[in-house]
Amino acid sequence: MDFGWKFHLGNDWGIGQSLSKAGTGFGPASMDYSDASWRQVQLPHDWAIELPFDPKADGSHGFKALGAAFPQNSVSWYRRTFDIAKDDANRRIWLEFDGVFRDSTVFVNGWFVGHHDSGYTGFRYDITDVVKPGEKNLVAVRVDATQSEGWFYEGAGIYRHVWLVKTAPVAIAPDGVFVTSSFPNNTPSGAAKVQVQTELRNTQAKPASVVIEWQVLAPDGKVRTRGRKPARVAGAATTTLRYEGTVDKPELWSPETPKLYKLVTTVMEGGRTIDRSETPFGIRTVAFDVQKGFLLNGKPTVIKGTCNHQDHAGVGSAMPDRLQDFRIAKLKEMGSNAYRTSHNPPTPELLEACDRLGMLVMDENRLLGSDAANTESLESLIKRDRNHPSVFIWSIANEEWNTQGTPAGKRVAATMQAAIRHLDPTRPVTYAAPVDNEFTGVNESIEVRGWNYHIGKGADDYHAAHPKQANIGTEQGSTVGTRGIYANDPVRGYVSAYDDNAPDWANSAQAWWTFYDARPWLSGGMVWTGFDYRGEPTPYDWPCINSHFGILDTCGFPKDNFWYYRSWWQDAPVLHLLPHWNWPGKDGQMIEVRALSNCDEVELFLNGQSLGKQALQRDSQLKWKVKYAPGVLSAKGSKGGKVVAEESVETTGAPSAVQLLPDRPAIDANGEDISIITVKVVDEKGRVVPTANHPISFDIEGPGRILGVGNGNPSSHESDTFVPNTKFHSLPISGWRYKKGINAYDGNLPDVAEKFDDSAWETADVNREQGPLGPRDRAVFRARFHVAAKDLAMPAVELWFGKIEGGVAVFLNGQKIGGAGDSRAASVYDVKKLLRAGENVIAVTLANYGAVAGLNKGVALRLHEAPAPVSWSRSVFNGLAQIIVQSSKEPGTVKLTARTKGLSSATIPLATHAVAVRSALP
Ligand code: GAL
Repeated sequence: MDFGWKFHLGNDWGIGQSLSKAGTGFGPASMDYSDASWRQVQLPHDWAIELPFDPKADGSHGFKALGAAFPQNSVSWYRRTFDIAKDDANRRIWLEFDGVFRDSTVFVNGWFVGHHDSGYTGFRYDITDVVKPGEKNLVAVRVDATQSEGWFYEGAGIYRHVWLVKTAPVAIAPDGVFVTSSFPNNTPSGAAKVQVQTELRNTQAKPASVVIEWQVLAPDGKVRTRGRKPARVAGAATTTLRYEGTVDKPELWSPETPKLYKLVTTVMEGGRTIDRSETPFGIRTVAFDVQKGFLLNGKPTVIKGTCNHQDHAGVGSAMPDRLQDFRIAKLKEMGSNAYRTSHNPPTPELLEACDRLGMLVMDENRLLGSDAANTESLESLIKRDRNHPSVFIWSIANEEWNTQGTPAGKRVAATMQAAIRHLDPTRPVTYAAPVDNEFTGVNESIEVRGWNYHIGKGADDYHAAHPKQANIGTEQGSTVGTRGIYANDPVRGYVSAYDDNAPDWANSAQAWWTFYDARPWLSGGMVWTGFDYRGEPTPYDWPCINSHFGILDTCGFPKDNFWYYRSWWQDAPVLHLLPHWNWPGKDGQMIEVRALSNCDEVELFLNGQSLGKQALQRDSQLKWKVKYAPGVLSAKGSKGGKVVAEESVETTGAPSAVQLLPDRPAIDANGEDISIITVKVVDEKGRVVPTANHPISFDIEGPGRILGVGNGNPSSHESDTFVPNTKFHSLPISGWRYKKGINAYDGNLPDVAEKFDDSAWETADVNREQGPLGPRDRAVFRARFHVAAKDLAMPAVELWFGKIEGGVAVFLNGQKIGGAGDSRAASVYDVKKLLRAGENVIAVTLANYGAVAGLNKGVALRLHEAPAPVSWSRSVFNGLAQIIVQSSKEPGTVKLTARTKGLSSATIPLATHAVAVRSALP
């Protein structure tokens, strides 16, 4: 359901939900309301990214003009029509939302179908009873992002996928498949047992007799084990069926070998398949050893992880699926094997990417709590995510300052762990504790002690005092740096990228990793953070709008520390030099040069002259003071006396050209796929100019669109996305007449017909605030107006009533176009198809139950222009920027051009290939 949505920002209609009568959602929640002039959007969509930066806004959320201080920007509506086929009348219809930020209310055909607070957990509604088979249906979603749940950028809107799911009356329950595997002693050897649990749900009153079949397919697609069972499901009930099979010589899942098995579950009734699901899973074991640390498949496996939030340059929290793969691949390139979904349940596609690409996941719940709402959130997370082989540990919460050290904290954590174990007995549980040697509260009951920061003696003392508790580094580092910057600059908000800067609670990359590397019992840990994210501009404030913690910036361009981690997190030789070598005016001055490497020795050269060789200690980095002269700074790294790596950094010439480099030059023409394109400013020899900050403008032609732009500059206030402005002309409708005393409810009123003589009626002023009807008055209002043919050619034509109070129905040219109207806000009707050039007639019937009623605050015809095309632009930051292009469903060639004054421009083709597209509802 990602395509074809309409979007409106603004809170004109309150909650839209009538609490007194069913099926009477008002404003955009009602069927009659016109969204003809609303902007078209495709999901996932984040409207926070579209808002301006404002120094008065909340900095920890990225200074976007959102939240309680910006009510006009904090509530929005989404609407979409969809077809339900006539022969779907016997099926169950579900509407599933993977994530809406936040506080959402969903209406279908004017009926309220549900409210969901959390912006991070998925939810689903059974809408079978209120859909209209064989007709157009309407879903309307009100989203209220006034409140926040975290202290970081969270986005706003329907920022994950939406699905319409149709099932037979007897079907596998939502999240009703659980598949695990096991070996004796939890160590892989010989055959694996595969245990399956399937929950069947019968929504009809009568019992059902079905047959259920399970097949386990190996990564090569061949069936390895299968089973079958008859089942009787009582009416309006669920039942759980179990199966255990054996898989010989299983191929184990690990980050290096992400082998996926597949469970296919089929439900048959009377020989006919009525439901089928495919569940990818992996065969592997996880455990913690109090001395050896984390064990994957029985082997000690050091966690080389990163914590991450869920936003990216250009798109905010509305991440196309493909961006998940892009980000996970970058982290793997660094040698990382683990990802913490700090501090909330992730989108399912993140976990799918981690399963496929091989990345362990610490899957984190948002809040500590054993109350009903938090328990429901926790259980929904576990049930949704427990089949993913990448998930190796659950985290119940992060840094709950006020409660973590209390007896209640201990009890709540115990209750949460029991709830997890009930749904998933296979995985350990942790809590991200920002405390030192403290064994109070949550730490007393948590299975695996999580460590946020606090390296040093306290950790060793804790381990000595609690030798039976396993440990893991849940959050470490918080080193700050800006890509390509080598001196702190509080005015512009940049931090040097030498591994020297960290807030007082945090550490350099080298400090924390050296500590962890020497202590296997700590299991390794997760860096705060893999990628920069919006918000938390530590160590600065405005004008900074995003964090400096990332090893990679918001676009995924590596900062220098990327090579520190790559040196010590994987085995291939690494040699990286910093800083860049463009320092005009600094000739003869000393510059600190560092080599990030895992070689035994590194020899440094300036313009061919050796500056000496240095031996490298494990987990360290090398430093030289070098007298600056332009030219080539180079280095050779050797292992066992042999040169295994060479690297050089050159002083570049002046900027000469813009270049575009797509991560993939051909993408799928499915309306979802993206190409992530690096924009570079280079010199004549094609070398990136590391100090270039040119503004670049972009043009796109062909079957694609630009989704967003970014550059990793933590103080940039340029737009990440450009949305079209729309304009309308208003043609006031005057000359109203009305007559009291007519029965407004009469279905055959001649007074609302097109041809009717109302010349004797009283004239009405519809521009007043209230009146003219008194208590229990009934009346009909009428007006005639002319429409020119050219007006009817406008993209959207709406009939707008400022306020209809006491309304019963609205008629245009004798045809009913809407019911009661809305006394709280404007009532708007789509009339483009009903109007004709020349004279038109409106009639409105009213029945007053309050003190006063009438047609007020004006009536007008609104003629909406087509949205004006937007001009895309973004500066490069220290030579680089990023632009994300999304395909349409039409195959062809997209042409992207990047220009800036004085440099040669770049144009690249992007091929979009025909593929089978994901089925989308009309
Ligand atoms: C931690 C917190 C993170 C982030 C980080 C910054 O205390 O868990 O969410 O705020 O500090 O260093």
